[in-house]
Amino acid sequence: MRGVFITFEGGDGAGKTTQVRLLEEWLTERGQEVVRTFEPGATPLGAEVRKLLLHGGDEIGAIDPRAEALLYAADRAQHVAQVVKPALARGAAVVQDRYIDSSLAYQGAGRVLQVDDVRRISDWAAVGLWPELTVLLDIDAETAAERRRQRGGADDRLEAEAVEFHEAVREAFRGFADADPRRFLKLDASRSIEELQQAIRARVASLLDD
Ligand code: TMP
Repeated sequence: MRGVFITFEGGDGAGKTTQVRLLEEWLTERGQEVVRTFEPGATPLGAEVRKLLLHGGDEIGAIDPRAEALLYAADRAQHVAQVVKPALARGAAVVQDRYIDSSLAYQGAGRVLQVDDVRRISDWAAVGLWPELTVLLDIDAETAAERRRQRGGADDRLEAEAVEFHEAVREAFRGFADADPRRFLKLDASRSIEELQQAIRARVASLLDD
């Protein structure tokens, strides 16, 4: 088995967690070692960074956009070095919920920073590691917000942003996918869980059987 790096992207509430879990099950059945992971927060350092980013209290105040981009990049650097690269090196499939494209969409397109600047920072943090396949679960902001309401629990700092922010993020993701169909599999996340998983498995199978 060879190492393969697969990432999942899309708005909060698109169903990434479910699809990641189902893909892990299937790959494991095929005899592949799988490392299921996520950003931000999958290392001990990253977990602290995640708390600051998403649940930082009043004592932190507003996070400057550049500081925010660097914190996501710091989480990524630690995660790639400690988890992703070692897993790929021993031949595992890394199936990951969010990666660089989230930074490009949320910090770049959704906020005031230039996408190219965010790409440079992230690319440096990740020592140039990009996924072979990125599954984009495309969902409109209203539906995603409704799913989050049904899921319950309080919105984190980014989830609580206005619908316009989430629409800008969505448009950014769609633009990335359309510009790079070789890396991206863009799927309409309003389709059933089973249909989505079938499409994902077909694409992963063709990647692995290549
Ligand atoms: P999660 O809830 O999917 O774990 O992600 C936490 C939030 O962090 C989500 O709203 C998207 C955001 N995010 C960024 O803004 N930039 C990034 O680089 C990553 C990985 C996540």
